[in-house]
Amino acid sequence: MLTQRLRTLLLAEAKKHESFYFYDEQTLVESIHHLQQAFPHEQILYSIKCNPHRAILKTIFSSDIDADAASLGEVYAASDCGVPSDHIYYSAPGKSDYCLEKALGQCILIADSLNEIRRINALAATKNMKVPIGVRINPNFSYTDKKGHGSKFGIDEDAFFSALPELKKLSHILIIGVHTHLRSQELNWNTLCSYYKNVFSLASLIQEKLNSPLCFLNLGSGIGIPYCQDETDCDIESLGQELEKLRVIYEDTFSQARILIESGRYLAGPCGWYVTHIIDTKESHGSHIAIAANTLNGFLRPCLEHLVTSISETAPAREPLFYRTGSTPFYVLNDTQEMEKVTIYGNLCTAADIIASDVLLPKLSPGDVLAFPHAGAYSAVLTPFQFSSQVPPEILFLTASKP
Ligand SMILES: Cc1ncc(COP(=O)(O)O)c(C=O)c1O
Repeated sequence: MLTQRLRTLLLAEAKKHESFYFYDEQTLVESIHHLQQAFPHEQILYSIKCNPHRAILKTIFSSDIDADAASLGEVYAASDCGVPSDHIYYSAPGKSDYCLEKALGQCILIADSLNEIRRINALAATKNMKVPIGVRINPNFSYTDKKGHGSKFGIDEDAFFSALPELKKLSHILIIGVHTHLRSQELNWNTLCSYYKNVFSLASLIQEKLNSPLCFLNLGSGIGIPYCQDETDCDIESLGQELEKLRVIYEDTFSQARILIESGRYLAGPCGWYVTHIIDTKESHGSHIAIAANTLNGFLRPCLEHLVTSISETAPAREPLFYRTGSTPFYVLNDTQEMEKVTIYGNLCTAADIIASDVLLPKLSPGDVLAFPHAGAYSAVLTPFQFSSQVPPEILFLTASKP
């Protein structure tokens, strides 16, 4: 939400920079507290991929949050921020031998395939180590039904159980954790809750068949943020209360296990704003046109949304690149009362650089400022800054004033 405080801050920075990301530590800290209060008995992980900006990582990792790393680089980034190796979880498909070797002992490896388990075992054997690992499971259920789906992520539940006799004989690995993640950007807490129930029951079966206690059960991510005007916050208090009931039911079963919840966008998304300027305006064949700086090559999401929805209004989400129509709203920070229908393009030499067509807005003039919310996650990281060799947007971090 654009508060008066933020509007003043963004306009002050807009006098100094043509386009910029603005990360507000105060909002980030509020999101961290909100999540930790809703899940007091669970350990929150931050998914670094959504925004690895060092100041963001430092704030998050100094707040008792563990790391979800999707690459070796993210393992190192978490480690540089002081996260202990047994609090960094490295989960990604297709880890190379080089990455596995470098990551060994620096983090908890989450194996994404049966082959990967065997490769980790072979690697550990060469070093005479016994490596505790997690396994990412692709379960026989989804968020909304009792059927699983083929996926490039994780090990199919049935394949895992079939391979267990072999896996238990591997003498250089020990399976100590289970990880699942099926979907991002879920706003319905009931849906998440029934998913959690399924994961608990699957993990208890895995533990039974392993015949050794699990040390962690990672419920994955999923908690979304309301991007569109017709959406409301996921009720994480109710979700936390229901999860607490589940935790108590399974307390004896998982007496040695940490329950983990991953979060990327919920933590970092709302703290970020993308701000740019209108450079020019013109008329073309009876239409009003405004040209903004650094759109496709500054903040990709609105352009992608425009591209996808211009092909199909009902295209399914492809997170983190595309969510749905209306998911990249923006504010015009001028005081003009006059309204005008306008199409806003970016200043790249491609017609694909368009963020809004024929929308009714306060009349735009050169120098006007546009501010996009929710730009703290999957925004700077996904944007081709080099395209057209323009000056990329600045990235600003406003440190919260300490009490
Ligand atoms: C395994 C895993 N964990 C966590 C996340 C972070 O998701 P989000 O930013 O939606 O919370 C993702 C996102 O793709 C993921 O694949």
